[in-house]
Amino acid sequence: MAYSEKVIDHYENPRNVGSFEKDDPSVVTGMVGAPACGDVMKLQLKIDDAGIIEDAKFKTYGCGSAIASSSLVTEWVKGKTVDEAAAIKNADIAEELALPPVKIHCSILAEDAIKAAIDEYKTKNK
Ligand code: FES
Ligand code: FES
Repeated sequence: MAYSEKVIDHYENPRNVGSFEKDDPSVVTGMVGAPACGDVMKLQLKIDDAGIIEDAKFKTYGCGSAIASSSLVTEWVKGKTVDEAAAIKNADIAEELALPPVKIHCSILAEDAIKAAIDEYKTKNK
């Protein structure tokens, strides 16, 4: 199966790979797995006092499309409010990366990772 140029670019030059310091109180983590293939994605967001996402990092153990999806969303969420980031849809990711139907679940993983991280943020800031 052919990957799109954008997938290959993100796969070969992933943006924002890594983790933040474990005890940074402004960091939340979304960790999700895809039951279909066993791939795992960890997305971390660093959120300022005003609820703006300052920075994002990811670690993904998975296919090229999953890595590209997580790399892309780390770029997309920066500068957004948590509500704006929560509105990112897997369909937007799949469209941007031109993912074929069998790889749609890879973009769902990225959407779920954003949502999981934001859930932690909302729980922390009740
Ligand atoms: Fe997930 Fe390809 S099946 S790595
Ligand atoms: Fe399962 Fe991509 S995340 S094949």
